[in-house]
Amino acid sequence: MSVPENVKKRYEQLKAEIEEHNYRYYVLADPIISDQEYDKLFRELLEIEKKYPELKAPDSPSQRIGGTVLEGFNKVAHSVPMLSLDNTYNEEEIMEFHKRVLKNSNRNNVDYLCELKIDGVSVAIRYVNGLLDLALTRGDGLIGEDITENVKTVASIPLKLRKNIDIEVRGEIYMPIKEFVRINVEREEKGLSIFANPRNATAGTLKLLDSTEVAKRKLNSFIYYIIFPENYGLKTQEEALTFLKELGFRVNLNYKKAENINEVIDFWKKWNSMRRELEYEADGIVVKVNEFDIQRILGETVRSPRWAIAFKFQAEQKEAKLVKVKFQVGSTGIITPVAEFSPIRLEGTIVKRASLHNFDYVKERDIREGDYVIVEKAGGIIPQVIGPVKEKRTGEEKIIEPPKECPVCGGKVGKIKSEEVAIRCLNPSCPEKLLRSLENFVSRECMNIQGLGEKLLKRMIDAGLIKDIADLYYLNDEKLRSLGKGIGDKIIQNILNQIEDSKNRDLYSLINALGIPNVGAKTAKDLAYHFKSIENLMNASFSDLVEIEGIGEDTARAIINFFSQEEVKKIIDKLKDAGVNMGYIQVKKEGPLNGKIICQTGSLSRMTRQEFAEYVESKGGTFTETLTKKTDILVVGENPGSKLAKAQQYGTLIMTEEEFFNKY
Ligand code: IVH
Repeated sequence: MSVPENVKKRYEQLKAEIEEHNYRYYVLADPIISDQEYDKLFRELLEIEKKYPELKAPDSPSQRIGGTVLEGFNKVAHSVPMLSLDNTYNEEEIMEFHKRVLKNSNRNNVDYLCELKIDGVSVAIRYVNGLLDLALTRGDGLIGEDITENVKTVASIPLKLRKNIDIEVRGEIYMPIKEFVRINVEREEKGLSIFANPRNATAGTLKLLDSTEVAKRKLNSFIYYIIFPENYGLKTQEEALTFLKELGFRVNLNYKKAENINEVIDFWKKWNSMRRELEYEADGIVVKVNEFDIQRILGETVRSPRWAIAFKFQAEQKEAKLVKVKFQVGSTGIITPVAEFSPIRLEGTIVKRASLHNFDYVKERDIREGDYVIVEKAGGIIPQVIGPVKEKRTGEEKIIEPPKECPVCGGKVGKIKSEEVAIRCLNPSCPEKLLRSLENFVSRECMNIQGLGEKLLKRMIDAGLIKDIADLYYLNDEKLRSLGKGIGDKIIQNILNQIEDSKNRDLYSLINALGIPNVGAKTAKDLAYHFKSIENLMNASFSDLVEIEGIGEDTARAIINFFSQEEVKKIIDKLKDAGVNMGYIQVKKEGPLNGKIICQTGSLSRMTRQEFAEYVESKGGTFTETLTKKTDILVVGENPGSKLAKAQQYGTLIMTEEEFFNKY
């Protein structure tokens, strides 16, 4: 079957249009359409490719969502060796570099281009006739690994240049700090090993064999280097950056031309104090002789160019005495070693504790109780113990062994999956797990039961009043009074009132409160809206779950595993018997849509279907998925479906998105 001309044309148009929006969003940070509109174009493109696979082009934006699973990476020789840079750490060293440059180039002065040194992973990318052809890691500098499929998922790297030329560029792929923190939190919750810093996280991600997984981690890029720039008529590094920008690359705009070495030092000073405002990690500046003619005169050694140098920022690392390692038990039973050390000031805050993450981490770094340790903030945020200062050891230091039993309940410990690094308390009724689950349950974003702090909850557990979260609803005057000291009439009444009140929370608060792994506030909201009751959620299948926008396979599996546990079923029954609301509460809001039934067809530019439904309800209306004779208004978005014809047939009031939002 040959592809109809009009489909071919539409496909080319979509490809170009999507990449243009991509460029506007990721490179220029200046989008002109909503995420929904973008998704719609993308879906159309995918549908065409599904129907006509022969159309699928190497520069299709669909490459950005991954899809290939490799067995390994091929080794490929670099066209020109990928060198590294010499480092300097202070003003004297940079002055010496400057003197060498002047002497070797036989000049009185040279201009430098100062750039930020991005702490990521360097890549070489080749384009043939404007199309991305090959992307390589640095490897040993002479031979790199072919990571083309993974690099194509990095949204800011053009699949097609704005000029149809052959060119090789080099630059840095990095992980934004926010993404780094997000991934580590997720990994720690899952009991996986964590990444020490954004650079390791980037390297680990680019080495994944499944490009779909790479696409999920939001890597980004800055390109700063052209091989054989004279082929494009370029005379300086500054011109090269401008040219790279014109080709469609993301170029770091925090560069400055320095006309003397003092301006270089000023640039370094400025960013040394401002770098924490960046959304990425920069570990110094790179100082480059601006003119390519002079660069050529200076040449390079086997290791590094003589025309450039890295001027590193002052590392914010400090030494602290590791006084004690405590074992913390989380709500899922994961036992985390936590270092407590003498207080130090790091990047503006006082730090005295840091997670040691897991026992593999402790062992690999040989961290011992009593050691002096080096502490820094990973990504400028999370305090991290880097390792011990071994020279300062006295022999009194204590090796930190994983506990043989739960430090709180004495229960059995072990791993639940062999690939996990985490050790967990396996006792389902461990009081510490219970305490952490209760803290979550009563918190403001969950059941919002005020007056139950950690201390009081612990007393209740110790007194045997609470054995699972549902027992909260079986407390009474007598039980609370038995706690004794400090718990008087007023407090008791307040607690019981608060607990009674919390029976009427919305379904999403309850879902959030149950502590389902991988399910946070937003997911809880989506689940509540979608399933409308705990029963429906408990009966949901894997495919029901992944169908919901924003719920991935991991989360779907976590939800199914959670509700398949007998203890969980028992707790839900107990909550139900106590009168805790298990359904979606449609708080009847008063508003201009009172008593009106609203239906939608096509997609809206302002919001998703789910958000629209909530919007309608917030204005007093009722949202329905299906159009019936009772429907009062059909709101029509882009690409409407069959509901439109049906509405015309029924004589339903039809409104465009604009009309609807102007009125309501
Ligand atoms: S220029 C011939 N510019 O730092 C080497 N490198 O320690 C030319 N890096 O391997 C490199 N930001 O991965 C250059 N603005 C920048 C950079 C940068 C980060 C990395 C690069 C290089 C490493 C050297």
